[in-house]
Amino acid sequence: MAENKQHQLLSGDTEDTQEEQFEPQLRPQTLAEYIGQNQLKHELEIYIKAARERDEALDHVLLYGPPGLGKTTLAMVIAHEMGVNIKTTSGPAIEKTGDLVALLNELQPGDVLFIDEIHRLPKVVEEMLYSAMEDYYIDIVVGEGPTAHPIHFPLPPFTLIGATTRAGILSAPLRDRFGIVMHMNYYTENELQQIVFRSAKIFKTTIDEDGAHELALRSRGTPRIANRLLKRVRDFAQVAGKSTIDTASVKQALQLLRVDSRGLDGTDRKMLTTMINYYHGGPVGLKTIAANIGEETNTIEEMYEPYLLQIGYLSRTPRGRVVTKAAYEHLHLPLPEDKH
Ligand SMILES: Nc1ncnc2c1ncn2[C@@H]1O[C@H](COP(=O)(O)OP(=O)(O)OP(=O)(O)O)[C@@H](O)[C@H]1O
Ligand SMILES: [Mg+2]
Repeated sequence: MAENKQHQLLSGDTEDTQEEQFEPQLRPQTLAEYIGQNQLKHELEIYIKAARERDEALDHVLLYGPPGLGKTTLAMVIAHEMGVNIKTTSGPAIEKTGDLVALLNELQPGDVLFIDEIHRLPKVVEEMLYSAMEDYYIDIVVGEGPTAHPIHFPLPPFTLIGATTRAGILSAPLRDRFGIVMHMNYYTENELQQIVFRSAKIFKTTIDEDGAHELALRSRGTPRIANRLLKRVRDFAQVAGKSTIDTASVKQALQLLRVDSRGLDGTDRKMLTTMINYYHGGPVGLKTIAANIGEETNTIEEMYEPYLLQIGYLSRTPRGRVVTKAAYEHLHLPLPEDKH
């Protein structure tokens, strides 16, 4: 149960109707409103300005990074700043080349086509994208058997924005066709605190400085998690009769959700303690870890491990993952003799 909840916290899927209600307002619309990712924003400002001055479509953009860091949001911001329409789809949703043709056919000059989870595009669809991206045309075969013949189908200049949590598994020909490749980073405490304040306003609730800081510390560097935890904390404070959310409400609510002082949840802790208790803290292979804690290797690789690596609780070696000294300390577990 608790694990499912955390999966929901981390992933994009949700049945939370409150979230749907607030989602459009929660998403910043302009680069100026988009908090953090300063280096990326600075670069984008220049590319967008230059493309607009030349009255051209923006070059294709690949956004990659862990879930919930704002890739979809940034794609929408880019379209907004370019003053164009955005069509949104995802890799697994484009099953056949015909689906892609239909999407491309609707684009106006300069429009953005956003493909989420672009690493999950079927191969034939991906191959059709190559010429679409490079020279704005596709070749489609019409008719069948002896009457089948290719038609050269020109497209308006457009911008493809691809998002992926795993740039590493994108094929080289596809990756190389993106002129702008951007790696999204985890947010700093300070940036998350600003996001919490901004979201609190949208939720029509108030949170004090320390409370927002505590929440930021526990949000795994991720805006989506900050927003979701804020909602739960708000419920908690409301029921406790507090008009302003303070540190105590944050701590109490997150204790109930089993989110600890560094934002680790039950699954993170289970992963680390399993590695410590059964494998002497590692090195342990990913598959072994996954089998032991009953998670998919993908889930661990995309959702859990990146943050643990980021905060230095795990390290990667050629022989597998290793639990670090900092993690032993955090879990209040004694460090084995040979690891001192
Ligand atoms: N820079 C930001 N400033 C304020 N809010 C943000 C920012 N980035 C993301 N958010 C909020 O965090 C939530 C998640 O963002 P988004 O859906 O864009 O993430 P994502 O990277 O596309 O995730 P996924 O990989 O799961 O598709 C949204 O509610 C969004 O409004
Ligand atoms: Mg997304």
